[in-house]
Amino acid sequence: MDRRWTVSTATVLVVGLVPGVAAAETATARTGSPGAPGIGDTYYPLDGNGGYQVEHYDLDVRYDPATDALSATAAIRAVATQDLSSFNLDFVGLDISELTVDGAAATFERDAGELTVTPAQWLPVDSEFTVTVTYEGVPETIETALGTIAGFIHTDDGALVVGQPDVAATWFPANDHPLDAATFDVALTVPEGLEALSNGELVSTETADGLSTWRWAAAEPMAPYLAVVAIGEFDVRAYEEAGLRYWDAFDPDLFTTPSNPEDPASPTLGEIAEASLARQPEVLDWLAGLGGPYPFVTAGGIVDDSTDLRFALETQTRPIYSPFFFTDQVFGDLVVVHELAHQWFGDDLRLGAWQDIWLNEGFATYAEWLWLEKEGLATAQQVFDDSYATVPADDPFWTVLPGDPGPDALFDGAVYNRGAMTLHALRQVIGDETFFAVVRAWAESQAGDTVSTDEFVALAEELSGRQLDDLFDAWLYTQEKPALG
Ligand code: TRP
Ligand code: ZN
Repeated sequence: MDRRWTVSTATVLVVGLVPGVAAAETATARTGSPGAPGIGDTYYPLDGNGGYQVEHYDLDVRYDPATDALSATAAIRAVATQDLSSFNLDFVGLDISELTVDGAAATFERDAGELTVTPAQWLPVDSEFTVTVTYEGVPETIETALGTIAGFIHTDDGALVVGQPDVAATWFPANDHPLDAATFDVALTVPEGLEALSNGELVSTETADGLSTWRWAAAEPMAPYLAVVAIGEFDVRAYEEAGLRYWDAFDPDLFTTPSNPEDPASPTLGEIAEASLARQPEVLDWLAGLGGPYPFVTAGGIVDDSTDLRFALETQTRPIYSPFFFTDQVFGDLVVVHELAHQWFGDDLRLGAWQDIWLNEGFATYAEWLWLEKEGLATAQQVFDDSYATVPADDPFWTVLPGDPGPDALFDGAVYNRGAMTLHALRQVIGDETFFAVVRAWAESQAGDTVSTDEFVALAEELSGRQLDDLFDAWLYTQEKPALG
C-alpha cells in the first residue's frame, strides 16, 4: 500500500479525504526508494548496505553442537538515512521462517549474500525501525584467501565464530561493514554443561530443561565482524583489575597438550596462554600510554584448542586466539599485545574502507615492536633494520602495497610488516616526541570514529609541520623497496 506524503500529515489526511485522480496528481509521491545493496567499499562492493544505520543488534541464538544447527531471532534496531521503500541486509545461507518490520510482516527476497526487505509501509528518513528475523540452519564456514578456514567453525565440542572481513552475515543479518557500528546484546543457548562466550559483559547465566543461556552485552558500538562467539568446554574466569572487568576463557584440553610435541615435559599450551593472558592488565596499561585510556569497560581473551583456528582476531573487548600462538611465551605475549593494540587501532578507530587495513595491522604490528623494545628483547630500530635488510629489493614482498593491497592480499605480510615499517620510517623523520604525540592524538581525536589513511597523513603533517606525501607515497603506495632517508 502506498502512503503519499506531501508536506505534512494534515495535508495527507486532506488528500486521503479527497477522492479521485486530481488528489493523486497534486500530491507529490514520497514513497521512498530502495537502499543501496552495498555501503560503498571499493574492495567489497556488496558489504554493508545503504539507506540506514544500525543502532543495536539483539541476537538470541540457540546452537546444538550435536547437529551443528543454529536457530535464532535477530532484532535489529536501525534509523533510516533516506526515505526507504526497501533496504538490504547482508545474510548468507540459513533459512528465514519469519521477518517483520516494526512487528508487521514484511516481504523479502534473497540473492546470494543480499537479503532485500520490503516493509509493508515505507520508512521515512530519520525514523527508527526494528527488523526482526527468525531463522535456522547450519552456518557456513568461510575459506580464506590464505587457504585456512574462518567464519563459523564447528569444533569437536562446540563452535567458534571468528572472521575478517566477512563473518557476521554467516550467523546473523547485518549491515556488515565497519562503517556501521552498533551495540550488541547476544544471548547464547547451548546444552547444559557447555560454556558460551561473546563480547562485553556477562549479564546472566541460567539453566532450564537441559539448556543454559548465557547473556552478553556489548555496551560500546562495534563493527559486526567483531562480534565473537565461542561455544564449548571452557574454563571461564571472571575478575576485576584496575577498575576493568575481565572474562577469560581457556579450553581445558590446552592444559594437557605440551607446547612442544617432542617434549612431554614442556609447559602446556594452557600454561603459556594463561601466563600471556595474565599480562593483559599490564599490556592495556602500557598501551594506554601510547593511545590514551582503554576505550571499553570490559576485557579478556578466549583460547580454544581447535587446530582449525589458525589466527587470532581482535574481537572487541575479547580477542580470540589460536592455540598455535602459545607454543612460546614471548610469541604468546606478542599476540596478546597485537590483539589488545587493535582494541584502539581497528576496533575503537574503525576503517571507513577495507583498503586502509594497514591502519589496523601496521599499528598492531608496530605495537609488538615497541613491546619488544620495552621488554629489552630488541629495539624497534633493530626489528626495522632486520626486516629491511632481510628482504631484497626484487622480493615480491615489495610489490604488495600496504596502502592498497587489493582484496586478495588484505592480510599479506606486507600489510603487517611494511605497514609497521611505514610507522617507523615516519618516526625517524619526525622524531620520537612528535611521533608519539601523533599516535596519541590519532587515537584520541578519532575515538569511536571511522578513519582513513588521508586523515592520518594530515594529522602527522599538522603535528610535525612537515610535508610527508613523499614518505607515505614511498612506503604505502609504491611497488618498490623504499630508499632509506
Ligand atoms: N586481524 C587478525 C589479526 O591480525 C588476522 C586475521 C585476518 C584473521 N583475517 C582473519 C583472523 C580471519 C581470523 C579470521 O590479528
Ligand atoms: Zn592484526
